[in-house]
Amino acid sequence: RVAGPCVLVLFGVTGDLARKKLLPAIYDLANRGLLPPGFSLVGFARREWRDQDFAQLTYDAVKQHARTPFREEVWKQLSEGIFFCPGEFTDDGAFDALAMMLKEIDETRGTGGNYGFYLSVPPKFFPVVVQQLKRTDLAHGPEGAWRRVVIEKPFGHDLKSAHELNAITSAVFPESSVFRIDHYLGKETVQNILALRFANNLFEPIWNRGYVDHVQITMAEDIGIGGRAGYYDGIGAARDVIQNHLLQLLALVGMEDPTSFDADSLRREKEKVLKAVQLPQDLARSTARGRYATGWQGGQPVVGYAQEEGIPSDSITETYAAIKLEIANRRWAGVPFYLRTGKRLGRRVTEVAVVFQKAPHLPFSKDDTEILGHNALVVRVQPDEGITVRFGSKVPGTAMEVRDVSMDFAYGESFMESSPEAYERLLLDVMIGDPPLFPHQREVELSWKILDPIEEFWASQGVPEDYPAGSWGPASADEMMARDGRVWRRL
Ligand code: BG6
Repeated sequence: RVAGPCVLVLFGVTGDLARKKLLPAIYDLANRGLLPPGFSLVGFARREWRDQDFAQLTYDAVKQHARTPFREEVWKQLSEGIFFCPGEFTDDGAFDALAMMLKEIDETRGTGGNYGFYLSVPPKFFPVVVQQLKRTDLAHGPEGAWRRVVIEKPFGHDLKSAHELNAITSAVFPESSVFRIDHYLGKETVQNILALRFANNLFEPIWNRGYVDHVQITMAEDIGIGGRAGYYDGIGAARDVIQNHLLQLLALVGMEDPTSFDADSLRREKEKVLKAVQLPQDLARSTARGRYATGWQGGQPVVGYAQEEGIPSDSITETYAAIKLEIANRRWAGVPFYLRTGKRLGRRVTEVAVVFQKAPHLPFSKDDTEILGHNALVVRVQPDEGITVRFGSKVPGTAMEVRDVSMDFAYGESFMESSPEAYERLLLDVMIGDPPLFPHQREVELSWKILDPIEEFWASQGVPEDYPAGSWGPASADEMMARDGRVWRRL
């Protein structure tokens, strides 16, 4: 899969995302030979920079964060196509200059008027940038050329604002040209949930309420909010990652098989399952939220959320959220899906665990069967990408003793190929124009519909419960599981 010649225009080049993910991913694509000839990158920002300055920023980002080894000849070729356009988003002149620059690039580098506009900027700037692209006619190419817009989350703050945001974009770009990035969908292991379920006949027959006791979806991070107070406060854990990453994981685990892997079929099935998601009646008993307090992480003392720089003293933002959901359809009725995420937890791990019911009858001694847990199939999204199946086995010896064991598939052992970074895959898909891994606006809105009542309830609850940094979250999250007679998986 190789894209045709094109220009990628990046708004927000000085942000964290550009430095840590986007610029290194572009280099990695170049290094893997996946960028088209003439590929050009234009940075747009409010800096008095020349092309060389942006090339230097890109170089530093590549040196620090690229996945593939640095190769001078690849960098040289890439850097010949790096340009910078200085300006403010509200400055008509700057966008006119951008339009001129793109025309020149087409003439000198053969990019044929194919442009992708990547908005890695705070949502409040979306409307003005989109309007500028409309005013300068950059949003619509001549016959035979494509124009695409890439939007980074958050896709709004709630259902209403997501709707408004969409109205702004769809007034300028057709839906087929809008690429909403949920970088979890770019992860190999997340895509592998589909392969696991639909490329095999082993799991699907038991992937339902007849055999599954419950599902746990966990995204735990050891990092705090870093320098992102401005973004994070007022957003919190649920809006930051449950609305998008975790609900997408739920959709992939819960959906029916699509008739094919084209965007329409895949999105249709995800939408169906998101539509069937039901919130429990009693939100106080089926959700939990917390906020990290001072503690220890990796042998270092760390400050609590309230003490992080830039956090207002009356903040009620959560850094941990756990939610119990149900899916009201024939496959899943009565099977709880527990979602949890948090910052400053014990370690960084994302996984999906499908926990099966216990065997209906165990012909072993009572002592043995009490130590047997539930069978489980765990998709390890990161780190240690792979899949684990947990089941009871006979302990070697002359007695019939049983104990839980694990069977493991690890990417690193089975494949020689290294996984591309999520953004590599997604950037390439944008350039090729391949949309299956980008959520449709309807999915975004359905996800907000699920979250809005929870956020509203939490907003009335004041400051979230403290949990020590480096722990596994607030006590209320454990209590929530205990009420259902279950426990969170130990990670
Ligand atoms: C982002 C969130 O979407 O995902 C961050 O905004 C979070 O808060 C990040 O740290 C985690 O991504 P990953 O790929 O490291 O799991």
